[in-house]
Amino acid sequence: MFQKTPFFKGLLFRLTFINITMVSLAIILSSFAIYHTACLLVESIGSLDQSAQSRFESLLFQYLLIFCLISIFIGSFLHFYLTKNLIKPIRSMIISTEELKSGGYPEPVAYSSNNEVGQLISQYNDLISQLKSNTQTRDKMISDLSHELRTPVSNLSGYLYAIKSGDIDPDKAIYDSLYQESIRLKRLITQIDQLKELDYFAVQNYMDKQRTEITEHIQHCLDTFKWSYDSAKIPLESSIQSCNLKVNIEGIQQVISNLLDNALHYHQTDSAVKVKGEEHGENYRISVISQGEEIAANEQKSIFERFYRMDQSRTKESGGSGLGLAIAKEIVEKHNGEIGVISSENVNEFWFTIPKPNYKA
Ligand SMILES: Nc1ncnc2c1ncn2[C@@H]1O[C@H](COP(=O)(O)OP(=O)(O)O)[C@@H](O)[C@H]1O
Ligand SMILES: [Mg+2]
Repeated sequence: MFQKTPFFKGLLFRLTFINITMVSLAIILSSFAIYHTACLLVESIGSLDQSAQSRFESLLFQYLLIFCLISIFIGSFLHFYLTKNLIKPIRSMIISTEELKSGGYPEPVAYSSNNEVGQLISQYNDLISQLKSNTQTRDKMISDLSHELRTPVSNLSGYLYAIKSGDIDPDKAIYDSLYQESIRLKRLITQIDQLKELDYFAVQNYMDKQRTEITEHIQHCLDTFKWSYDSAKIPLESSIQSCNLKVNIEGIQQVISNLLDNALHYHQTDSAVKVKGEEHGENYRISVISQGEEIAANEQKSIFERFYRMDQSRTKESGGSGLGLAIAKEIVEKHNGEIGVISSENVNEFWFTIPKPNYKA
């Protein structure tokens, strides 16, 4: 629970107390100086008799006293009020961190000014929303995974139970099917490992973007895949226009690699895989074109979701985990770009765009 600091020990009291002491000292000292200088001046002129002189001195003293008290009062009040406004958001932040500590996700702390306290609160609010979205992503992954795990495990135990209780005679087909399910389980366990990777890409903000010539980074990815393509005897062609883009290099290379990996994996003929990079209005568009199983219109969105694999790829013994395109989408969106697929007559064009930087800026 948030422990309320006693007023006399609080920052507000301390700051106000220090201020009142300083202001009072300054006012009293200057009033003292004014009083004595004025009295001496009037006395040295010598135009007043004794009683007029002492009337003048007591009147001046009264005025200065009233002035002192009013100044100290107004100064203290103003200081108290301003400090209180400054401290208020800090108090809200303390309450908010308490809620965070006890496992909740507090509402963003309100702040009005953009001074250092405002900036601190704004950073704190960003941190909470980042934490919240990380937890939601993780929860979703765990529930996706356990959902995916349930099917092969219940198939396996169902078959094994039926064999054990003599309901079915195990034959080669059944062993095949059991084997397939065990492979599926193995793949799912590999996915758990890969989740770390998705988690990594999901939390990256890609703030460290830099202006760079995109050609060399696409070329780097092509060079990396050259050996695998050569081994699979699939020609890899490219036509890349040069362009200066502001990107996170590691991120963009990851996207291109995921697309090249898929093209290699799901390619069904030995015709070339083409990689294109070209300016496209306000964007730069990179695409990887390969021949393979046509992707039905209703699946063209789903393949970019985590763990989604098309039916034929699901049954494949080897292969990915359905995370490659999800990771690519995550990264492209953090560059304010778009990603998609155009599929017709067994030609699949996976494309993504990166907005060109504003050269006027
Ligand atoms: N170039 C491609 N040609 C045909 N199908 C593809 C291609 N790229 C991706 N796919 C389909 O999209 C699905 C999701 O791809 P991805 O997210 O990379 O997962 P994974 O490759 O691990 O299965 C694949 O399982 C596959 O069915
Ligand atoms: Mg893949």
